[in-house]
Amino acid sequence: MKRKVQLLKMGNIELKKLAVKASENAYVPYSKFPVGAALRTAEGKIFTGCNVENISYGLANCAERTAIFKAVSEGYKDFSEIAIYGNTEEPISPCGACRQVMLETEKRFKQPMRILLFGKKGIYEMKSVGALLPLSFDASSME
Ligand code: THU
Repeated sequence: MKRKVQLLKMGNIELKKLAVKASENAYVPYSKFPVGAALRTAEGKIFTGCNVENISYGLANCAERTAIFKAVSEGYKDFSEIAIYGNTEEPISPCGACRQVMLETEKRFKQPMRILLFGKKGIYEMKSVGALLPLSFDASSME
């Protein structure tokens, strides 16, 4: 399912750099696991996000959702890609909650949203959120 990208396009490197930079703002006193995300809207605007934790542990907000909620709150709802960075050797993979939130935007936009997963080395590319969340709950489930 995961596919290694052979050639990094310039845009990917730029997006990774922004995700790394965003991870530096992560508020992670509990997990000590900083994550950063950089989201590109259909218009080409970039929103970044980091994970924000709380003493009430279940309230932690992941980097991906921070970036998406920032964008939506500024009036941007359609996204072409997101880069996610974890300070690990291998790329990290988004949690189920973030997959469901990313899927919402993909279904609404009716265009695939590319997901780039980065660690210190390596990159995985997913062509769409759907590829990360098969048999998902969506509007058709309620018909
Ligand atoms: N986390 C993210 O921000 N994104 C992911 O894709 C995986 C996990 C955060 C949540 C929590 O603050 C920390 O990483 C450890 O789970």
